[in-house]
Amino acid sequence: MAPLLEVIDIKKSFGSLRALDGVTLSVESKKVSILIGPNGSGKTTLINVISGFYTPDSGRVIFDGKEITGLPPYELYDTGIARTFQIPNLFWKLTALENVQVAEKGNPGESFIRTLLRRSWAKEEARATEKAFRLLNLLGLSRVWDKQAVTLSGGQMKLLELGRVLMSGAKLVLLDEPISGVNPTLAHEIFGRILKLRDELGVTFLIVEHRLDIALTYVDTVTAMAFGKVVAGGKPELVMADPKVIEAYLGA
Ligand SMILES: Nc1ncnc2c1ncn2[C@@H]1O[C@H](COP(=O)(O)OP(=O)(O)O)[C@@H](O)[C@H]1O
Ligand SMILES: [Mg+2]
Repeated sequence: MAPLLEVIDIKKSFGSLRALDGVTLSVESKKVSILIGPNGSGKTTLINVISGFYTPDSGRVIFDGKEITGLPPYELYDTGIARTFQIPNLFWKLTALENVQVAEKGNPGESFIRTLLRRSWAKEEARATEKAFRLLNLLGLSRVWDKQAVTLSGGQMKLLELGRVLMSGAKLVLLDEPISGVNPTLAHEIFGRILKLRDELGVTFLIVEHRLDIALTYVDTVTAMAFGKVVAGGKPELVMADPKVIEAYLGA
């Protein structure tokens, strides 16, 4: 099967600094992949290029067989690529359920005309609510469905942000440090939930994460970067034993 995402020879400079120096990688469908590498190796820049926040200087990004290089974030969102940020981006006064509901593409609430077609609107609304509850359930947030986002714990906020992204119908989810600042118990829970989402919804994940002690036990594949290049990729145990990867960390 063709990979869901292919990144081909991407270059991106900031002034004279080459943050991405010809990055090529592919992400298999329905797998959890992690992107590792020392600070400054280009991981966040790569996520920004894939999610359309930065335009690469050269190279191509192919998603689901279509070239998406240089498309703006909202168009990528429509094609099924979504990302989260290190600091969750929520509607703080809305409840957990509402936060997920309003994230749906073409949510009837967005359209005035649809509200005129009352009957179909009500049916849509019931279906969206059901889907939102199912996601909250998969994320372990069903008990706080009616709590305002601002009252949730840091870990719950991260999970809720993931729920919003999934409600939008994302096929590929890019996560930048999903367990940073989260205690170990919750960090394991978050990765456990990610695997559940992969298995039950068929979602593909590309994750940047520093905390390898926790993350490595959950992921299907690892891509290691150093100085804007990919230095190794494959199964976690092989990549972590690769001298080039060890050198990259020791040299940093
Ligand atoms: N918007 C920017 N402007 C200038 N330099 C940047 C910008 N974003 C990243 N960089 C630089 O690019 C390099 C790679 O950064 P980054 O992708 O954030 O690394 P990582 O996420 O692996 O720590 C770093 O040297 C960083 O300082
Ligand atoms: Mg980073």
